[in-house]
Amino acid sequence: MVISIKKICCIGAGYVGGPTMAVMSFKCPEVLINVVDVNQERIDAWNSEDLSKLPIYEPGLKEIVGKTRDKNLFFSTRIKESIENADMIFISVNTPTKKKGLGAGKASDLKWVETSAREVAKFSKGHTIVVEKSTLPVRTAEVIQKILKSAEKESKKQIKSFSVLSNPEFLAEGTAINDLLNPDRVLIGGDNKEAMSSLSQIYKKWVSENKILFTNIWSSELAKLTSNAFLAQRISSINSISSICEVTGADIREVSRSIGKDTRIGSKFLDSGPGFGGSCFKKDILNLVYLAEYFGLKDVAKFWESVVEMNNWHQKRIAEKVVQKLFGTLANKKIIILGFSFKANTNDTRESAAINICKDLINEGANLIIHDPKVSPTQIENDLRIKQSNSFELNEITYKKDQGNWQFSRNLDKFDNAHAVLILTEWEDFKNINWIDAARKMVSPAWVFDSRSIVNPIKVKEAGLNLWRLGDGIQNDN
Ligand code: UDX
Ligand code: UDX
Repeated sequence: MVISIKKICCIGAGYVGGPTMAVMSFKCPEVLINVVDVNQERIDAWNSEDLSKLPIYEPGLKEIVGKTRDKNLFFSTRIKESIENADMIFISVNTPTKKKGLGAGKASDLKWVETSAREVAKFSKGHTIVVEKSTLPVRTAEVIQKILKSAEKESKKQIKSFSVLSNPEFLAEGTAINDLLNPDRVLIGGDNKEAMSSLSQIYKKWVSENKILFTNIWSSELAKLTSNAFLAQRISSINSISSICEVTGADIREVSRSIGKDTRIGSKFLDSGPGFGGSCFKKDILNLVYLAEYFGLKDVAKFWESVVEMNNWHQKRIAEKVVQKLFGTLANKKIIILGFSFKANTNDTRESAAINICKDLINEGANLIIHDPKVSPTQIENDLRIKQSNSFELNEITYKKDQGNWQFSRNLDKFDNAHAVLILTEWEDFKNINWIDAARKMVSPAWVFDSRSIVNPIKVKEAGLNLWRLGDGIQNDN
């Protein structure tokens, strides 16, 4: 029997669970959605009266939350009660790479998924459809099924039963709301046709039927990993070509534009940048690598691992370029870092290229002024594992040690005495910098390093600044 879903519970109020449930509540006003999380602080932020204080910054999110919160969308830590009442439960907890033990450094740590499955097994009542929303290693559904099966057997008085589906989320941060409202496809993997149909009824409220794909559960899990691996591989490919451009006199923007016109290649995801970041790409590729190794497919594992290795090399290369251009030393030099999030329009810094690049520059002795419109200084401190300095003045470099340091600035006007500006995130504000004003405040000679191709090279040069752009074999100053 196809159940019409009336109550949903989502475990995990993160970058995926929060926006996904906000859009679902908006499109399905008749469905009651409880988003639960173990993190009280995060839940409080989701409930904050001032919608600009939501824990996640996503364009369009606060408007939707403002419309549905406390109507059919609720955020709480009431995990037991929300599970008990739900017909459908989304598992949307984080699955970080394991730090130790079997598969350390590659396999995903499934402890939170397991905990969630155990809670569902314990508290659910009647028939419950359990949906994997987190990106998971292939055959994770088996783990969830086993845990739930044992609950089915144990439930003597109350009859419990479960169907497990895979419904990976393809949203990209920064465009999450648009991606959720207009998905390229919705993937539903499973073997219970009725449960699959119940889930598709929800999406059909706003997604056309031809975009809803049904597969078996393992294909669905693998399709999500593969999708991220292909996208990341494209970025490593274009970044590798950028280094060839620089030594041959070619220009990566021209190369990208030319190959993107080939409809078989397509024009998206061909922007060379400081290296891919975000919570998914690296983790998901390493998951594929682990899977391939596990099944003895060594060459397959090596192929995918090289995508991550290229990304690491590329990030290092950007830091090295800065050192090289600034006469081989950054000791006591002030460098302005523009952007710390892993891409524009998000406050997320997970795996951001800025983390490794800033650490490398600090190790070289640089004093960094880090500016980002949405990332908090506390987050930067956690990522760099170096405390923000108060021992060098913003306008005067007094900090003298081999090891450099950093300070945060919310404003975009701290160019005084800077030797260089390094653009790492493509925030809109950075496209409109008045380079003449900036150059007046900077030391001479000073550099602009643009890893996102967002500055106008003519304006930078007219301001008397040296310019290095990623993959620019024509305009770069030597
Ligand atoms: C997502 C996906 O779910 C993950 O599989 C993907 O690969 C990375 O992105 P995301 O929403 O970005 O995760 O993670 P995060 O923002 O860390 O949110 C997860 C939330 O789950 C956190 O708020 C955490 O407190 C919560 N959680 C974790 C629980 O509520 N219960 C747990 O047992 C564990
Ligand atoms: C990605 C996938 O796009 C999404 O489908 C999946 O659900 C989660 O992982 P996300 O990590 O949020 O989304 O952002 P994405 O836009 O894919 O960017 C990832 C990284 O690649 C960023 O650091 C971005 O700056 C970089 N990137 C992207 C480039 O360097 N060049 C490009 O052309 C595109």
